[in-house]
Amino acid sequence: MKRPIAYIAGTGYAVPRRAVTNDDLAKNGLDTNDAWIRDRTGIGQRYVSDPDETLTHLSAAASRIAMADAGVSAGEIDVIVLGTATPDHLLPATAVEVQAALGAGRAMAFDLGAACSGWLYSAQVAEGLIATGMAKTVLVIGAEVLSTIVDWTDRNTCVLFGDGAGATIIRSVKTLPKGDTRERGILSSYGRSDGNLYDLLWRPAGGVAEPFSDKVYEERRQYVRMEGREVFKHAVRSMADATDRALDMAKLTPADIDLVIPHQANMRIIEATAKHAGIDMSRFFVNVERFGNTSAASIPIALADARSQGLVPEGTLVLFAAFGAGFTWGSLIVRF
Ligand code: ACO
Repeated sequence: MKRPIAYIAGTGYAVPRRAVTNDDLAKNGLDTNDAWIRDRTGIGQRYVSDPDETLTHLSAAASRIAMADAGVSAGEIDVIVLGTATPDHLLPATAVEVQAALGAGRAMAFDLGAACSGWLYSAQVAEGLIATGMAKTVLVIGAEVLSTIVDWTDRNTCVLFGDGAGATIIRSVKTLPKGDTRERGILSSYGRSDGNLYDLLWRPAGGVAEPFSDKVYEERRQYVRMEGREVFKHAVRSMADATDRALDMAKLTPADIDLVIPHQANMRIIEATAKHAGIDMSRFFVNVERFGNTSAASIPIALADARSQGLVPEGTLVLFAAFGAGFTWGSLIVRF
């Protein structure tokens, strides 16, 4: 096996103060109910930001926890990559606002747009920057305030999503303690996209192709639209493909994997992915019941949550698999 060169040194997450249960949605006039949402998605509640809980605020809060966990100071961060589909401003990138909030004065900071695959793609960019020697310490964040871009009158979509941020510190393996020669870090990495399917999950208006206008607001075209059944089909197929490919590349089999941390899209997608990938559900970490689908934030939140429950001790072999709008998908195998 090739010696890994980048590893995950710290994790953290932050969510808004306010949890909104399925019953809250129904009470607020949406034609839905707890039983339907739980049965179809496994979601019980999601966190929703108040105006002061911006993407920068949540990202910086998660990052401070990850930095403390890794023992990394702001001045040591070379690069900040923020995977998101919900930046605070259209210009500049939110990553630079996070940089300023953290005081990470030496860092290069930028956003990465890959929807729900945002953290996974960002981790792959970090791995590449570390491999070239351009960076030693990268802050990789996945964060979303999806509550601002979902249509709260559309029960097909709004019940699925939640807000939050997850952060990870990815470092060069050279920073391992002296004498520690174990194989750990990123063992394999796989990513793909298919732009032919961009309009199965998208925001039609608000960009350059269809700028904001009275008509856009009237037709609610600034909000997320999704063909749920098509998305389901592609999500399962793509995450199973990503799982197989990462295993092949690392010369591992499903039996070698201790824990799978998939994008927390919804319970049914995760269960179908487990079946296609041939990995028992008991090895999947799932927390979608508490957080909903937080898109780019879902994997780093799940990782930090799993670690806080003691489920990722040293040596654990973890497979991450993501799928998102675009479509985008990919996987990582990491030894902790
Ligand atoms: N509450 C109550 N009823 C609802 C709700 C709701 N929130 N939403 C839809 N329904 C109704 C529909 O209107 C429909 O009613 P009808 O038969 O009278 O027309 C009925 O429930 C069934 O609707 P379907 O869309 O057929 O339901 P389905 O079983 O396909 O489940 C779901 C819908 C959960 C969205 C499913 O298609 C799915 O999981 N798709 C994947 C989408 C997803 O998770 N996207 C996340 C983003 S992608 C990502 O993260 C990568």
